[in-house]
Amino acid sequence: MKILVVGGGGREHAIAWRLAQDEAKHELFIAPGNAGTESVATSLPIGSEDIPALVKWARENSPDLVVAGPEAPLVKGLADALLSIGIPVFGPVAAGARIEGSKRFAKEIMEAAGVPTGKAATFTDAAKAKAALKEYGLPVVIKADGLAAGKGVVVAESLADAEAAIDDMLVAGRFGAAGAEVLIEEFLHGEECSILAMTDGENAVLLPSSQDHKRAFDGDKGPNTGGMGAYSPAPVVTGDKLALIKEKIVMPVIRELKRRGITYRGILYAGLMVNDANSNPSGPLAKSGSTVNVVEFNARFGDPETEAVLPRLGGDFATVLLHAATGCLKDSDIIVKPDCAATVIVASGGYPGHYEKGRPVSFAGSADTGETAKSIVFHCGTRRREDGAIVTSGGRVFSATGIGPTLREAVDNAYKAVAGISFDGMFFRKDIAHRAFGRK
Ligand code: AMP
Ligand code: GLY
Repeated sequence: MKILVVGGGGREHAIAWRLAQDEAKHELFIAPGNAGTESVATSLPIGSEDIPALVKWARENSPDLVVAGPEAPLVKGLADALLSIGIPVFGPVAAGARIEGSKRFAKEIMEAAGVPTGKAATFTDAAKAKAALKEYGLPVVIKADGLAAGKGVVVAESLADAEAAIDDMLVAGRFGAAGAEVLIEEFLHGEECSILAMTDGENAVLLPSSQDHKRAFDGDKGPNTGGMGAYSPAPVVTGDKLALIKEKIVMPVIRELKRRGITYRGILYAGLMVNDANSNPSGPLAKSGSTVNVVEFNARFGDPETEAVLPRLGGDFATVLLHAATGCLKDSDIIVKPDCAATVIVASGGYPGHYEKGRPVSFAGSADTGETAKSIVFHCGTRRREDGAIVTSGGRVFSATGIGPTLREAVDNAYKAVAGISFDGMFFRKDIAHRAFGRK
């Protein structure tokens, strides 16, 4: 197949790499890609949000499939534009991507579909929002309605912090239009996990569970980031939970979107809060002895979850993606390998705040991805300089994924891969998968 992957981060490197593992050999392109994707795909000098240029390339090159990585082009209508010229796309149309692009819309869908989630209300007026705070305990969560590059969520521990967050978004206009409406949401206790559901708008296949690490530093300290590491499977998703999540969360949402005329094709990413300690016997997921609430939906693969999940998938990946994109997912079966995987993000000093770019990277091994049977280093934010050197170009720079028969071995293999990378100011968390290891 001729396939175009849109994006240039670790997630897109993992998607292109996994497509390159298929037995059938594909012709792979990536727009724009990075220094690491060069080994598996041809880079196109087109930005991931440049929809006219992507469509022009697709019109001239007739790919069999386009796989969208990030949310922004989907929210802007990439899938709609490609479908209008007859190109199959893995990724939802703009009306579906709103499930990530508008938190209010996501709540509306969940309410209509009877999906468990935290109590919430939306406001455009700061005084009304502040008055409503008394209906929520502490901590309380304040969210910008729109896309705010992962920074639009404040978990406020005090009333003063909650009011400041409301003022920041509604009065000071910190996130512009994305924060012109805010959501006040009940704080959900428990352990988070990420479920990537692949869907063709009718049926869904759940990929193996994973868990992200959102905070910058060890012990879940420091500011929220795009994610500092992941592992799969996530033991918090015990026994029958995956099937229940499909039945009570994923399928009702897909059906509700369908009812509204939206055929959602691609990944429906459910960020879930699992509360084992405080089970709710009347809750919709009571059968598994716990409550599961939706924290958020995303319209795409997670990053860095994808770097931990895709190496565990066997079989022909391109065919499954094409089946989802063309409404034939029921003909597909996902093969999950028994191995565990763990991903450690190597970041630029200062991330998620200000950081320097252009730092040269050196690798202890010969290859830039250090690929072995036990590990691979996906590139997130790298670029090849004119002199051929690889330099940093983002906050998250590498996703080092280790694979092993146990989670412990997978984590050890990931850190061995990290040990082969060096650049000025690099940092990474040393406790990836700590929640899994801390479970009884
Ligand atoms: P979001 O962008 O909605 O995923 O929020 C970012 C992070 O904030 C989540 O991954 C959670 O760690 C945290 N968060 C968001 N909403 C809640 C909530 N209602 N209760 C507890 N934590 C939350
Ligand atoms: N790792 C969180 C996300 O992809 O949204």
